This record gives sequence, structure tokens and C-alpha cells, in this order.
Amino acid sequence: MHQSARDVKRAGKSIAFVPTMGFLHEGHLSLIREARRLADIVVVSMFVNPTQFGPGEDFEAYPRDPARDSELAENEDTDILFIPEKQDLYPPGYETYIIQENLPGHLCGISRPGHFTGVMTIVAKLFNIIKPHYAVFGEKDFQQLAVIRKMVSDLNFDVKIIGSPTVRETDGLAMSSRNKYLSSGQRSSALTLYRALCDAKEMTAKGETRADALIDAAVQTISAAPETSIDYVKICDPDTLEDVAVIDRPVLMGLAVKVGRTRLIDNTILQPGSRG
Ligand code: PAF
Repeated sequence: MHQSARDVKRAGKSIAFVPTMGFLHEGHLSLIREARRLADIVVVSMFVNPTQFGPGEDFEAYPRDPARDSELAENEDTDILFIPEKQDLYPPGYETYIIQENLPGHLCGISRPGHFTGVMTIVAKLFNIIKPHYAVFGEKDFQQLAVIRKMVSDLNFDVKIIGSPTVRETDGLAMSSRNKYLSSGQRSSALTLYRALCDAKEMTAKGETRADALIDAAVQTISAAPETSIDYVKICDPDTLEDVAVIDRPVLMGLAVKVGRTRLIDNTILQPGSRG
């Protein structure tokens, strides 16, 4: 990969990179299409990164289907598919990790300590190996995108980070490799995440400015559905991820909910409206 990246650069071509953990769905394919628009050469990586999973999380069970993934990526005109092995990236004795002080201490970082250190570490390693001009990340993982942008700025990586909108099923469920774990009953419960976000958007558009009123409504909607257990419902500043009490500017509403044993996340931007 190092050699291919050097050759591409020597030929004066640009590289757009899409990091994934495989088990591709339409959301990933939209990232690849965005990468295709941005640069001459598209590199897609597939690696289920062990360092971003905590003890008891789904690292072993994470869905994998490299043959199907390769076909899907090739259909999108991917130039280079990079599928490293664990021992290539984390050989015995590996001991270097990236820490960020503030952003990982919010939202998902609270119930997943160490997760963003694992994400930053693997993304930094992949940037060093692939040397991309652009890297495309989904906005569904809003906190991940914020953490990566900050890491790139703080550590002077020479790469432009592009956020790409969440892709949803026709009924609104945000696409995720983990949706595969849901039974049909759980899938109906999972729809309450999107419903709660849409209700909050409508309430703010009609003039509601109190974050606690919006959060209470979302909690009620989600907890009324069977098999849901809320990790967090938060309204926060999109840059700092600090809680916001009054919606007087665009803010982020983020949710993490377990449906059965599957942890799902979703988010939207709420715009303040005018009352009446
Ligand atoms: O978003 C993901 O799939 C992963 O967190 C990433 C960015 C590929 C790092 O392992």
C-alpha cells in the first residue's frame, strides 16, 4: 500500500480514501461515490479494528463478508481495496495510541471509554499508509467525524476531511452494519430513533427552545417501544459537543439506544424556529 500510494503521487494523481470496517451497505457506497467525485484514485480500506471495541462489545460478532464487500466496492469503481491483517497493523509489542483531551469525553465516549483512542489510532495509521488528499466519513458517526477533524488539525495531517450525509432506509432507519442484528420486532422499535429526531426538528421549527423539553419528548417516544434502553439523548454544541440548554443557534441532537443487545446511534441538526 505504501508503494502504491507513492506511485500514485509520483504520477501526479490525487487519492480519496474511505475507511470502513467492511460489511458494506448503501451508506458506505455513498461515501465511495463521494470519494470518486473528489479524486483520481479511490482507496477503500476494510479492517475491523480491535482497538476501538471495549471488553464485552461485539468485536468477535461484528459482521464480516469480504467477498461480497470486494464485489460491491469494485462495482463502485474503487481503484484500491486495502484489507490488512491484524498482525500487519498491531504486531506483538504494539504500544502507541492517540489521546484527545475533550471531544471523546462526551456522547458515545462516556459509555465507550477508549473507543475514540482506538478510532484515532487506526485512522492515523491508515492516513500514514495511504497518504490520501481527501478522506470521507459518514455524518451518522458525528462524534467520530468531529474527533477526526480535531486530530487532523492538531497533528497537522495533510488531508482534507469530508463529511457525507447519513443514508437512510425508506422508513428512515439510519443505515448501519449493525442493523443486521435486529429481529423484525426490534427493527420497528429502532425506528423510534428517527421518529424522535424528526419530532424534535418539528418542535424546534415551531419555536420550542428548551433542550430539556425536546429531550423529554424523545425519551418518551423511544422508551415506549419494546426492547429499547437509552444510553443517551443529548442536545449539544456541534463543535465542542458540550450540552446546550437553549436552542438559539443550530445544535446537534444525538442519540444512542440499545435495541435488544444492538447499540444504535443517530443524530440530526436542530435549527431554531420562530414561535407561532
Ligand atoms: O466508522 C468506521 O467504520 C470506523 O470507526 C473506522 C473509521 C473505519 C475506523 O475503524
